[in-house]
Amino acid sequence: MQMFTAAKKGIDLRLTAKNFFGLIAPELELVEAEYERQVNSNIQVVNFLGEYVRASGGKRVRPALLLLAVYAAGGIGKDPSAVRMATVMEMLHTATLVHDDIIDNAGLRRNRESVNARFGNQTAVLMGDWLYMNAFEASLKERSLEILDILTRLTRQMTEGELIQLTLIGKVDLTHDEYFDIVRRKTAYLFSGCCEIGAILGQIDQSGRAGLRNFGMNLGVAFQLADDLLDITADESSLGKSAGADLIEGKVTIPLILLIEQDDSVRAIVQKIFETGEFPAELRADILGRMRTRGIIDQVRSIAAEYAGTSRKNLEVLPETEYSRALDAIPEFVIERQN
Ligand code: IPE
Ligand code: IPE
Ligand code: MG
Ligand code: MG
Repeated sequence: MQMFTAAKKGIDLRLTAKNFFGLIAPELELVEAEYERQVNSNIQVVNFLGEYVRASGGKRVRPALLLLAVYAAGGIGKDPSAVRMATVMEMLHTATLVHDDIIDNAGLRRNRESVNARFGNQTAVLMGDWLYMNAFEASLKERSLEILDILTRLTRQMTEGELIQLTLIGKVDLTHDEYFDIVRRKTAYLFSGCCEIGAILGQIDQSGRAGLRNFGMNLGVAFQLADDLLDITADESSLGKSAGADLIEGKVTIPLILLIEQDDSVRAIVQKIFETGEFPAELRADILGRMRTRGIIDQVRSIAAEYAGTSRKNLEVLPETEYSRALDAIPEFVIERQN
């Protein structure tokens, strides 16, 4: 029954079926209701667009992390503060997606037309702004400078990540440092913020808080590595967003960095894709084939597994509860995910 309600509200069922999502299913329902309330505006256009992005679903990984972190830190995930902050993190995440899809020229998001594709870039810019500001306004209810400090910093870092990425578009020889710097900024700080804010709300001590913060950081890197791999290995229908998009957009990610290091002839192929903006299916298959031959997919998986392993170690400072065990299961899920 609960699953049915979740499906109606657009939550991805394949994931709510997982143990750790199941453990906080009632709290995630509260987040959904809070999100609905947040976008319920008497300004019709805001209401309409807010509901469009909310109802498109998504995995809800960030609110789940925050809620589990609250419990693992000794707090209650059903408390209004926890529910509100979990919603804030999802709204911030959604704002970045709405803007990211304009930047990446993406037409599909969560199996629907992206906001920019459906309503135009102008609308998407403004709706992204609205989501950011609404998230900040909601977070002010906590009256917590500590939380605001984390939120403003991570939002700045996300924007910096996207800006740095933009300046490196079309650069074939991206260094590992450049790549990981972008990944931390655009993705991992938000994961880290979810866990740290959960720690604050659960009122755990400084070492527990640092453990959760670091857990989120390493998990976030593993999450983006998996995303960058999926962009190459998966297809549009399973991802619910375009596949092979990174290369078309001139973005070199870790699988390609490793491939170029190990097969120099790929450099010219990539250069040509960047110059023409064309990346036909045969070329995509060729690059994937070369990656498989060289074992690149496994190499990226093992780097992601290293980050996942480090993130699990970060949790060792927490008292062992079903919630810390649930957090401990997330890294594996993140690197094994198919969408
Ligand atoms: C997509 O995040 C953006 C990245 C950081 C790679 P998600 O994969 O969590 O997107 P949704 O929320 O499930 O759609
Ligand atoms: C993550 O990078 C973007 C954000 C942090 C907004 P991507 O550009 O790879 O995300 P997707 O693949 O479009 O979801
Ligand atoms: Mg994108
Ligand atoms: Mg991606």
